[in-house]
Amino acid sequence: ATHSSTIPRNYASITPPYPTLIRNLEHVRNVLKRPLTLAEKILYSHLTDPVNGLGDGGRIRGESYLQLKPERVAMQDASAQMALLQFMSAGLDQSAVPSSIHCDHLIQASEGAKADLERSIVSNQEVFEFLESAARKYGIEFWRPGSGIIHQIVLENYAAPGMLMLGTDSHTPNAGGLGMLAIGVGGADAVDAMTGTPWELKAPEIIGVHLTGKLSGWATPKDLILHLAGRLTVRGGTGRIIEYFGPSVHSQSCTGLATIANMGAEVGATTSTFPYTSNMQSYLKATGRGPVAQAADEAAAQGFLSADEGAVYDEVIEINLSDLEPTINGPFTPDLATPLSKFGAFIKEQGWKDELSAALIGSCTNSSYEDMTSVADLAQQAKDAGLTTKVSFLCTPGSEQIRATMERDNVTSTLQDVGGTVLANACGPCIGQWKREDKKGEENAILTSFNRNFKSRNDGNRYTMNFLASPTVVTAMAFSGSLSFNPMTDSLTLPSGEPFKFSPPIGKDLPSTGFTPGDTSFYPLPTPEPQPNAEVIIKKDSQRLELLEPFTSPFGNGENLEFPPLKVLMRVRGKCTTDHISAAGPWLKYKGHLTNISENLLITAVNDEGGDVNVAFDHDAPSGTTETDTIPNVAKRMKARDQPWALVVDDNYGEGSAREHAALQPRFYGCNLIIARSFARIHETNLKKQGVLPLWFADKADYTRIGSGDVIQTVGLADLLEGKPDAVIILKVITREGQTFEIPTKHTMSPDQVKWLRAGSALNYIRSMMN
Ligand code: F3S
Repeated sequence: ATHSSTIPRNYASITPPYPTLIRNLEHVRNVLKRPLTLAEKILYSHLTDPVNGLGDGGRIRGESYLQLKPERVAMQDASAQMALLQFMSAGLDQSAVPSSIHCDHLIQASEGAKADLERSIVSNQEVFEFLESAARKYGIEFWRPGSGIIHQIVLENYAAPGMLMLGTDSHTPNAGGLGMLAIGVGGADAVDAMTGTPWELKAPEIIGVHLTGKLSGWATPKDLILHLAGRLTVRGGTGRIIEYFGPSVHSQSCTGLATIANMGAEVGATTSTFPYTSNMQSYLKATGRGPVAQAADEAAAQGFLSADEGAVYDEVIEINLSDLEPTINGPFTPDLATPLSKFGAFIKEQGWKDELSAALIGSCTNSSYEDMTSVADLAQQAKDAGLTTKVSFLCTPGSEQIRATMERDNVTSTLQDVGGTVLANACGPCIGQWKREDKKGEENAILTSFNRNFKSRNDGNRYTMNFLASPTVVTAMAFSGSLSFNPMTDSLTLPSGEPFKFSPPIGKDLPSTGFTPGDTSFYPLPTPEPQPNAEVIIKKDSQRLELLEPFTSPFGNGENLEFPPLKVLMRVRGKCTTDHISAAGPWLKYKGHLTNISENLLITAVNDEGGDVNVAFDHDAPSGTTETDTIPNVAKRMKARDQPWALVVDDNYGEGSAREHAALQPRFYGCNLIIARSFARIHETNLKKQGVLPLWFADKADYTRIGSGDVIQTVGLADLLEGKPDAVIILKVITREGQTFEIPTKHTMSPDQVKWLRAGSALNYIRSMMN
């Protein structure tokens, strides 16, 4: 029996509109006339025009642009700032779809849950106030600090089989554990959904992962995705959805599936999903959503929530769970996978110290009831034997509901008895919000059950080797303090000299007495009434928040549809990720202040003319000589002179995250055009949204022919803007020395994206459509 009545929520009825979706799908079937994968069913049933949206039904995956209508938006506190500032400038009274804000990223872990929360609320007060006041005005659900981590709250309250939602965070796919498509996007994409504008996605390819066999002993769903990350690598999922199928999907818990979907982001997948299972049904009921489960049962009976017999995938990967052993990935990249049995030898080979310095569990990836009870089982075994952890052992619960249920069921006390500390319900060390006092600047190794392990991510120390593993492996290792310890085969020595060996951990999928909600004041009303007269609070002299000024269109009223002559700011050399374009760390606090954050523009990029970092040349300095300055400063000089500019960049420009500041900032300083050897897909779209034209060199060798201070004139852009999608844009280059030549380019602009460019930004276009 579930005791959902104790959960003070009215989220029970948040059900996708199954009858409409199923009807939409019938239209699509009439066009496609072939078996569909589950991901296709969910995507195509959310087309804004299911009758004509797929054209003649030819090749779609990897080719066509889909115009979609997501059902919900979730935003975390760091990315919500820019998302809301953009939404505000669209001028609507309320969000067109139910939306929520989650305060989780800005809470710093240091002493423990209570003190950390109080301190972080004070230090981020103006941001939280802004978010809360915007939520009030526009009728958005506001989950205040302490309520939990975005993805766990979405899974517990909003996620439902067959649904399509967007989240302004790369691990949004976590909700795929409930058999839906949840996609991580930038704020401008969230604004599409919130303004009721069709959200455009290039139809992804679909990888099928066929699961057979049975997990046993220490192997968990986390190990499945760690293993798969090793096989696919960090790029293997780019532009693709991972859809799992096969008998063994049904033997995993819903939260285990969520862990797998969460880390699909690590291979670059658009999202991951699973067919509806009875464990999903149980999870929906246990979290107070019986009506959603019932509706999903009916939709599943009509074949909506699984792939059709004979559906074809772009690639199929076979995984036999019976062969899977615990896996440890890292350091510094999530796709360096080593089976647990070989990990000791791996450490030795590398010549690394066989020493663990901290063990961290929880986060959005792994803080389910099942994870926590499995971990508590190990802690209890150790406690009974008289052991405590050898290293700092920290746990971040994913939500207030998990925290309170852990406490009630003595999980918390068991962890504390062996030396564990339970942190606030927030991201904490997973996003670097960890005030770590030891090992500063020293090489050391940590194990976490989180999802990402880029350099410096957790404690800001680039010498910290961060390994990813299941929560149970992390916990067992915390008792040994050594990296070569294999809890499946090795024993620890008790103070008495006796050997002690862990039994494989046993956890519980769901609490037998139901979840307890904990502090009920954390739960907002579902889709509250908007209050159009409420004021959005931004302090006058705020250094952290600033209203957005719309970007002006470079084409004015349309009398000239070529760009004005553009000056080249610089030629960027080599790898240039969104981190190079808009650095994180101390700059995070300016996420809501475009003027302030723009001071970090390209500060770690390499100038191909000279090879220096953060150096650019101003060829039009008032002194009459070429002056050298930082990149943001030269960009600012050009802005001050009203000189629009262009950037020449190398391969895979903008790889990494969906960070839209990397597109907003150059645009803010006056960038109109970026010419690349190639672009990373999400960043390329972000540029288009902000009104920057991304062009590809038709011949990559032309990259070296353009330098700083050269002037570029476009020829053929007017054709594109006037609706000729096949228009070829030629760049007429006049070098600093006065030489002229032409360079052919390619573009990937869809008809809608052309309208954004002409309007100066997607937001300008949306605003013009509203009026
Ligand atoms: Fe937060 Fe880490 Fe997840 S930053 S949202 S806990 S990936």
